[in-house]
Amino acid sequence: MTQYVIDGGRPLIGTVLTSGSKNALLPILAATILYGGPCEIHRAPHLSDVENLLETLRYLGAKTRFCGDVITVDTSALNRYDIPAEYTGRCRASISFLAPLLLRFGRCSVAYPGGCAIGARPINYHLEALRALGNFRIMENSYGVEVQGTFTGGYYSMPYPSVGATECALMGACFSPMPCKIENGALEPEVEDLAGFLNACGGHIFLENGIWQSEPAPFSAHTDTLRYSVIPDRIEAGTFALAVAATRGEGRILRCNPDHMKGVIRLLAAAGAEVVGSKDSLYVRGRNRKLRGCDLVMAYPYPAFPTDLQAPACAFLATCYGKSAVLDTVFPMRYAHVSELGKMGARVSVARAPGGERYVSIVGGMFRGGRGESTDLRAGASLLIAGLCGKGRSIVLDQGYIARGYEAVCEKFRGLGGRIWENRIY
Ligand code: UD1
Repeated sequence: MTQYVIDGGRPLIGTVLTSGSKNALLPILAATILYGGPCEIHRAPHLSDVENLLETLRYLGAKTRFCGDVITVDTSALNRYDIPAEYTGRCRASISFLAPLLLRFGRCSVAYPGGCAIGARPINYHLEALRALGNFRIMENSYGVEVQGTFTGGYYSMPYPSVGATECALMGACFSPMPCKIENGALEPEVEDLAGFLNACGGHIFLENGIWQSEPAPFSAHTDTLRYSVIPDRIEAGTFALAVAATRGEGRILRCNPDHMKGVIRLLAAAGAEVVGSKDSLYVRGRNRKLRGCDLVMAYPYPAFPTDLQAPACAFLATCYGKSAVLDTVFPMRYAHVSELGKMGARVSVARAPGGERYVSIVGGMFRGGRGESTDLRAGASLLIAGLCGKGRSIVLDQGYIARGYEAVCEKFRGLGGRIWENRIY
């Protein structure tokens, strides 16, 4: 258990560097299996989710090294195609191994990914994608899924633009003997980054009129080193932007890509913050501005407002004058942060719209120092923001969720003048 101790009530002022994107890196790590030779992945953040996937790769027979922000993976000697629950339970993204293992071995056995506090996370679209793009025998049991067969190519119209299932489909499509078309796939920048990596591995994937497509490419192992740099983490950058505005500070988020952050930029601007994006940085000012709540913030698939910033946005809006409403259509049960934000002084509750949807209702005010417990990664981030805003001492208890997705979060907040420390409790 980690305890974050925060002496809040001071505006965050200064600059902060964005790390590489966790959600881009995780499927790329799984996709190194498709290169079959040495890969150097640059700008990799030090996160427990990343360590977990590296451990899985080693279990499968890969060699890995993590030095500075460069991960080296060599999957040429891979010798297993099964991933037990011991590995999948720690990180949902282990489902990303499904398609790469099938391409390498023609079979795989993957235990179901661990449960998560943000709601049901089934893999039915992943399996549908396999059925549509290949000739597979899929056996599901209470433990996980065993699959055998080959990718043939084909057409898959996704019922919903699931990020993980689109990534699974693209990895399968990449080295299919026939063309593939994936309609209604996810268009998140992390999916595009994976496509870029797959093309660097020898694939021919492209996006035309919002439809993912691939031309046949032969799968072959390589001996030369592939070097690839992941995109900046738009969710981490967005979290810092919201924290700066929430504390009425003034900051520049460096090495981010504001083009990927339109949802959060729109929200900050609508609330009355000054937000100026340049090529690779974002300036945010809440200082001396009267910030107002927003009618309805809705989390939808990209390019709309991201579900991963829904909880941090609730913390921000709880500091803005007037009423706000926040609805998450991607994970409609992802509201566990609401009661915890309440314990730290926010006037927030989960309400029901006339149509039955649950949403977060917020009446702006002030946080006070308090005690909250994080229930998942982004809920944890929202509590850190609450602690940084509230005058007095706050304690955020966390069972390792925050370290799954935020690299050196205390150091980064301290760089902005935040008073925040972490203690390990055993
Ligand atoms: C990824 C991100 C996660 C983010 C999410 C949505 C990674 C490692 N994680 O998760 O941070 O919150 O995208 O942007 O990149 N669904 C199904 N069946 C499926 C797959 C998904 O019903 O087979 C549903 C989910 O329950 C959820 C919605 O689709 O309600 C979105 O899930 P999805 O886009 O797949 O999220 P992940 O890829 O798991």
